[in-house]
Amino acid sequence: MIWELRYFFRKTGRMSNILREKTSYSQRSLSTESIVSTDKSAIILGIESSCDDSGCGIVDINKNILGEGLHSQQIMHLKMGGIIPPIAGNIHRQNITRVCEDALRSAGLRLRDVTAIATTVKPGLSNSLQIGLTFGKYLTRVGNKPFIPIHHMEAHALTARLTTEISFPFLVLLVSGGHSILTIAKDVSTFYMLGTSIDNSPGELIDKVSRRLKLHYIPGFEKLSGGAALELAASKATDITQFPLPTSMNDVRDCHFSFSGITSACMKHILDEESKYDIKADMTIPGVYNLCAAYQFAMIKHICERTQRAILYVEKSNLIPENDRTLVVSGGVASNNLLAKALNLVCADFGYRFVRPPRKLCTDNGVMIAWNGMERWIENKGVIYNQDEIENVTIDAKASLGEDWSKRITSESIKLTRMKLLQRLF
Ligand code: KG4
Ligand code: ZN
Repeated sequence: MIWELRYFFRKTGRMSNILREKTSYSQRSLSTESIVSTDKSAIILGIESSCDDSGCGIVDINKNILGEGLHSQQIMHLKMGGIIPPIAGNIHRQNITRVCEDALRSAGLRLRDVTAIATTVKPGLSNSLQIGLTFGKYLTRVGNKPFIPIHHMEAHALTARLTTEISFPFLVLLVSGGHSILTIAKDVSTFYMLGTSIDNSPGELIDKVSRRLKLHYIPGFEKLSGGAALELAASKATDITQFPLPTSMNDVRDCHFSFSGITSACMKHILDEESKYDIKADMTIPGVYNLCAAYQFAMIKHICERTQRAILYVEKSNLIPENDRTLVVSGGVASNNLLAKALNLVCADFGYRFVRPPRKLCTDNGVMIAWNGMERWIENKGVIYNQDEIENVTIDAKASLGEDWSKRITSESIKLTRMKLLQRLF
């Protein structure tokens, strides 16, 4: 433990009093588990470091976001051509203290005012998760606080309940840099996974295509994430049909996702155009905006079709009460406004309410971890009070989300009626 503290102090600089101040044992006894149900003023501090964002958020039991701190490594990784895990871990280590201090400072709070510490422990990049977990544990020790380990994707799924009244169960679509998942959220800790990526995640491929198209060389695009750059480029298209792309898994009647076929076809168009126009160095292909629009649309169409089947499955199995059906969409790729518009159409067709958290809560952040911590605190699910048990918590880089129900969808063999998305969106 002493080694760990020295390690953090050396790598992150001295901590201000805001984090060092100890909570006196008389203020809160960790063995008093009954505080969970009676505590009407709970405040949770959440730490996120699963990928390339160091985030800290503080929320109270009344759904107020009290404070936030965020450091994004996006630009750095953009320059390096992708995330290099050990480098991501180092950058987290350099920033995690400051980010948590920023959150406390913006909330006007000290560590002693916080009820419990929630931290992402799965899934994600090992080096990155480890930094958040080590720091989260450290805060529980100096502050004498309970600890709440958090599943990053569960946090994405439940963020919407922080900003909108949504009752369980509800349907969730998560699309991010690491995942694409369709799931039913039954309660705070029970999820039924209807479908997931069988190859790469949409965000990862969008980032790859954006880099390959050299979008960051276009003036005004330099500081955008791959996804934001693709969306902006697509909005400038004049002919979405210039580059035909295949549809994905049309005849596979499940809810899994595959974006690799669309991406390979897109990469082939880039190669062909580059050789046709002798494109070199930082030049972009002449039809770059049209290709972005075609690629974005192909992805959206696939996502909408899988969601449509999930909705039909829910309907058939009567899993969600008919008068209260909600689709929540979250994760970084959910920031895409055309995707939101398309999903809105799907929801309208089936009488679903469409809910997307504010865009800054769709991408990785500490607030969603704090909120998931609060949901678990209220239900007393997964809260750890004993310091030895807290020390034994480990990361799980590859954790899946909930019970796998995907075979149930396959066995239903649900056929889709065509949505005519292209005509309805443009
Ligand atoms: O959820 P997130 O912040 O991190 C992970 O947990 O993966 O998602 C990041 C991903 C990146 O791939 C980024 O390019 C993508 O979300 N993204 C978008 C948009 N904004 C961010 N993808 C499509 N359209 C956007 N507007
Ligand atoms: Zn995420």
